[in-house]
Amino acid sequence: MPVIATSGLARTFHTKRGPVEAVRGIDLTVEAGEILGFLGPNGAGKTTTLRMLTTLLPPTGGSATVAGHDLATDPGGVRRRIGYVAQSGGVDPTVSVREELVTQGRLYRLPRREAVARAGELADDLGLTGLLDRPCAALSGGQRRRLDIALGLVHRPGILFLDEPTTGLDPAGRADLWDLIRRLRAEQDMTVFLTTHYLDEADALADRLVVVDQGRVAAEGTAARLKAEYGGSPDATLQDTFIAITGRRAAPHDPAPLAV
Ligand SMILES: Nc1ncnc2c1ncn2[C@@H]1O[C@H](COP(=O)(O)OP(=O)(O)OP(=O)(O)O)[C@@H](O)[C@H]1O
Ligand SMILES: [Mg+2]
Repeated sequence: MPVIATSGLARTFHTKRGPVEAVRGIDLTVEAGEILGFLGPNGAGKTTTLRMLTTLLPPTGGSATVAGHDLATDPGGVRRRIGYVAQSGGVDPTVSVREELVTQGRLYRLPRREAVARAGELADDLGLTGLLDRPCAALSGGQRRRLDIALGLVHRPGILFLDEPTTGLDPAGRADLWDLIRRLRAEQDMTVFLTTHYLDEADALADRLVVVDQGRVAAEGTAARLKAEYGGSPDATLQDTFIAITGRRAAPHDPAPLAV
């Protein structure tokens, strides 16, 4: 039984300048304990898909179940079982890292004493221990990112959605996060749904990749399979494979295509 299953999931935004079809019908499944790399060029529809799967944005078409709960009829059931680390996190700049973590725990109905203990554990896991009493405003970009990730883990979710979690992390921070993700999967059988533009990260971390382009699934499979199928050989780089799948065209607002 997959823990995530979508069928024709779609989202059109209605703007003054007309409709924007951000997601045009996505079918995918994710198995329990799987680390799925959800890849695609800027504007492909990754964040929009994540926002739908995490109940923050209602779909305009199709359906999905997450952790056995239907997105449309039981969004509360979905929310209790998932953690979400958004592409740009929103923390209160004035409160301390500790208070931010404790507040999040309280939001998930942990008694204060437990919320405080959990804050300490997560700070350990994410390398934030020395920073617990600092106001969030005084964190560096990478420290902020680690706090965002800690906040997504407070309630020990079975499924974790991460939107570009390692953007802005230094190499050691990135390696630590990879280790943490692998550990969460090994110890808790956590399912991880992750977007990234770092293809080495997708290669190293994900069991399977789904590549989206212009709101649709363009390719799907293990990195090895995609390399053989689209990159021309199992030794192809994931970057060449990715470009073979999505093309190397300019962003929509650019007047002329990039020279290849
Ligand atoms: N609220 C909105 N209103 C109108 N258009 C939107 C809205 N949100 C997203 N879009 C458009 O939908 C498309 C998909 O955006 P989305 O943020 O899902 O892309 P993405 O794959 O996450 O890109 P990136 O890699 O840059 O984060 C883009 O063309 C974007 O401009
Ligand atoms: Mg995005």
